[in-house]
Amino acid sequence: MVLNSPRGTGDIFGEDIKYRDFIINTAKKLFNLFNYNEIITPAFEHTEVFNRSIGESTDIVQKEMYTFLDKKGRSLTLRPEGTAPVIRAVIERKLYSENFPLKLFYIENMFRYERPQKGRMREFWQVGVEAVGLGEPFIDVEVIWLLNLLFEKLGFNNLKLLINSVGCSGCRKDYIEIFRGYLKPKVQSLCPDCITRYEKNPLRIFDCKVEECMKILKSSPKIYSYICDDCKIHLDKIAEFLEVLGINFTIKEDLVRGFDYYTRTIFEIISEDLKSAQNALGGGGRYDKLVEQFGGPDIPSIGFAVGIDRVIILMKQLEIGYEVSKKYPKIFIILMEEDFRVYSFKLAKFFRENNLACEISCEAKSVGSQIKWAEKNEFSHVVIIGEDEIKSEIITLKDLKNFRQFKIDWIKQPLKVLELFQ
Ligand code: HAM
Repeated sequence: MVLNSPRGTGDIFGEDIKYRDFIINTAKKLFNLFNYNEIITPAFEHTEVFNRSIGESTDIVQKEMYTFLDKKGRSLTLRPEGTAPVIRAVIERKLYSENFPLKLFYIENMFRYERPQKGRMREFWQVGVEAVGLGEPFIDVEVIWLLNLLFEKLGFNNLKLLINSVGCSGCRKDYIEIFRGYLKPKVQSLCPDCITRYEKNPLRIFDCKVEECMKILKSSPKIYSYICDDCKIHLDKIAEFLEVLGINFTIKEDLVRGFDYYTRTIFEIISEDLKSAQNALGGGGRYDKLVEQFGGPDIPSIGFAVGIDRVIILMKQLEIGYEVSKKYPKIFIILMEEDFRVYSFKLAKFFRENNLACEISCEAKSVGSQIKWAEKNEFSHVVIIGEDEIKSEIITLKDLKNFRQFKIDWIKQPLKVLELFQ
């Protein structure tokens, strides 16, 4: 029986690796420009890390986590997102210092038990950043600028940047009361999940995809209209700075994001070319209370994450090419007879010790067919080993791109061989 990968997971290979490398390399270059350093956290954490941050009544915690008991009965969860683990690490390792902000980035796979469809996987990859330690609007602007620039550098020019504020713990409380008041006469029309959310955490009703609930939300009061003066000033400052930087954005008053840890600024970058519900390529926000909630000092933070898999889907759909990184020489060693294999190892050893990539043919076939194979597999050069070459210790090197051929005594003149690859 053929075994398949689990539902919602995939294998990444071939062209997709090239897209992925392009996305990751572009991101890394920008992270460097903006002074971020990499962090890698474990693929699983104590379940508490996510329950306490993302929020008990969110869809992720309620329905989507891969949670299991280890052999000692401890509850562990495969990370569904990167922010909570990074903050756990920052506190545990005391990475916060006097010199704020602490700027970290990650490139990691995430796991969510979702209903799989195009662009929505159970295992998917994110590049993300977290800037820990500053509450001022200019750092929000830096983070949003970085997100926007990443997509610009990847070659997108038709994306929409949406921004909203979910207020602070003060004004949000007032809003929740108003929102509850609006929902009260309609509670029985909500779906069973939302009835529970109404009691426990009404804001999460905004994550609901049930049509009736979405209809009720359409004319509900929006948090944007109820944020306090400080939160409004914070948002206005961001808008002002983004305009100075020439970054287009839309304030979307009904934008919500499915995490309880957000405070004030939230944002998303979406593509209207992705017609499905999975049109968000990246998103993020401020989370001013999370570090403290995790037992650390009271330091505000902000970050975003971008879904690599979704970006690849859209790049292909829009025929956005990936930039090919510099091609290095790659040599294919052609054997004319199986007896020459020992000799081919000596030659391969010489190439590899001199940092030249090479591959030895696995079977002695006609030179013509081996050259064709090498061309198809993107080798830049072939070396042919035949009886004459072995006797005279001269190699015949063919440059497949420029159709040039060299005969060199590689034992006596190794430098001459290496010069050909400079
Ligand atoms: P998120 O919006 O859940 O945010 O995920 C960010 C991006 O990951 C999405 O915009 C999407 O491109 C991709 N993504 C999410 N779920 C899936 C899935 N099931 N399959 C494929 N791609 C997916 C976060 O994860 C927050 N931690 C972002 C953040 C960082 N906020 C503050 N700092």
